[in-house]
Amino acid sequence: MATLRLGDIAPDFTAETTQGTLNFHEWIGDGWAVLFSHPADYTPVCTTELGTVAKFKDQFTERNTKVAALSVDPLKDHHNWILDINETQNTTVNFPLIADHDRKIAELYDMIHPNADEKATVRSVFVVGPDKKIKLTLTYPPSTGRNFHEILRVIDSLQLTAYRKLATPANWEKGDDCVISPSVSNEEAKGMFPKGFTEVKPYLRLTPDPEI
Ligand code: BEZ
Repeated sequence: MATLRLGDIAPDFTAETTQGTLNFHEWIGDGWAVLFSHPADYTPVCTTELGTVAKFKDQFTERNTKVAALSVDPLKDHHNWILDINETQNTTVNFPLIADHDRKIAELYDMIHPNADEKATVRSVFVVGPDKKIKLTLTYPPSTGRNFHEILRVIDSLQLTAYRKLATPANWEKGDDCVISPSVSNEEAKGMFPKGFTEVKPYLRLTPDPEI
């Protein structure tokens, strides 16, 4: 399968999960979604990742974003492993784990990288918008647990810039100044950004975060 790229429609699928049958596009609805794969159940780094996502649930919900995890393990293993995650990470797993035992979704999303591991999924992340288009892809190796603060930060940027002619600079966090798109003239910027802007260079203009 061809690599999925930003702006592509996230392939739709129906799958069995720890929270019942899930149709991906229906489940996303008019919100945002994160689909992320982990190499295998009953592994240490994955245990910490899924525990972390459970603890971040409210922060995803605040961003109108649903989260689903996926590996090629069977549903029974997912259910049993969740008990370990809850116990060791002091949390309650509160999002669906997709059981992709026939690897259909993993292949659809190119989550198996045979030169890294022939059978297991790598640590892929897809952020999908309400239009069902892919807004972000990340790929981490099995040995590196992901930074879910970064994933929340990117969602903040994606949502802020989706409908405004703004971008966010390096290491931006909610509340920091934003960058005005080069396609916007200074005259237009005056109307678009009532908080004003600073012209550091003609191509580098900063305006306060409009949502703060
Ligand atoms: C882990 O989640 O701990 C892990 C999974 C596969 C390879 C290495 C580590």
